[in-house]
Amino acid sequence: MNLSVQLAPKHPRGLWLTNPVMTASGTFGYGTEYSHLFDVQKLGAIVCKGTTLEPRDGNPQPRLVETASGLLNSIGLENIGVDALIKEKAPVWAGWHIPVIVNIAGETVGDYAQLARRLDGVAGVSGLEVNISCPNIKAGGAEFGANPDSAAEVTAAVKKAASLPILVKLTPNTSDIAGVALAVAEAGADAISLINTLKGMAIDIARRKPLLGNITGGLSGPAIKPVALYMVYEVAGAVDIPVVGCGGITTASDALEFIMAGASAVQVGTASFANPRAPLDILEGIEQFLKKEGIEDINELVGIARI
Ligand SMILES: Cc1cc2nc3c(=O)[nH]c(=O)nc-3n(C[C@H](O)[C@H](O)[C@H](O)COP(=O)(O)O)c2cc1C
Repeated sequence: MNLSVQLAPKHPRGLWLTNPVMTASGTFGYGTEYSHLFDVQKLGAIVCKGTTLEPRDGNPQPRLVETASGLLNSIGLENIGVDALIKEKAPVWAGWHIPVIVNIAGETVGDYAQLARRLDGVAGVSGLEVNISCPNIKAGGAEFGANPDSAAEVTAAVKKAASLPILVKLTPNTSDIAGVALAVAEAGADAISLINTLKGMAIDIARRKPLLGNITGGLSGPAIKPVALYMVYEVAGAVDIPVVGCGGITTASDALEFIMAGASAVQVGTASFANPRAPLDILEGIEQFLKKEGIEDINELVGIARI
């Protein structure tokens, strides 16, 4: 049975995964934190926490609120910064046989380019995932990924700065997800991942105040799955590069829905908080499904539900 997928067919080196199950950025640390719970190298790839040029403390507490079938977070990109990542994390990954993809975040196009230059050629880093859900400081704080032009500008800058395979991670907080996807594909993205969290909030009626210290946050988990699935379907129909589906994936059948909608691989996020083995359980469930259905290659299912 073949479970391997190619995420960067247009890239000279490509980006092969032995199977299509990845972790979602910000929900699996640097992968190392989970190594004692299960063999994380059974997964297709690890995507690490969003990384910025300088270390960040993140937003004020509280930063997590559970909602109906979902999770609201306003972590605010708390991370160790790119220098510590290169010094402390990458050498560990260099000894792993699965790819680790570094998720990068910036406030200006220049930040993204600088991060890409720093990470290019670092042993243990197999690709970059560009988080364009961040506020563009020079454009009044609108998300880079909210419109095709700024999304393409970031993509082109990262592509120019690094020879690594580049995944661009789209925000659902836009009115034109297919337009943004097309723009980043034309700007040189090797693959597209989606979706990041949806903007949301919750209010503490006893205190008469927003529950999150940051007032608003990002909604994830099963609550967003139908939205994510629809957006993956839209984007997979618009571009000719691989699409990685993410958003509320909790079971193998959720993952298979995304694959049938057109995703070549999937990322498991919030599900890992309730069950740290969720990515592995999902992988095993996919294998069982293929066996039961007599399917020899996972790639046969990619986009099979498309009308
Ligand atoms: C606590 C938390 C932290 C996150 N941090 C990041 C991040 O640093 N970079 C990023 O691109 N996405 C981040 N995300 C978004 C997830 O990677 C994923 O796109 C989103 O949660 C939807 O998938 P899920 O419903 O499976 O969690 C974060 C999500 C959560 C819940």
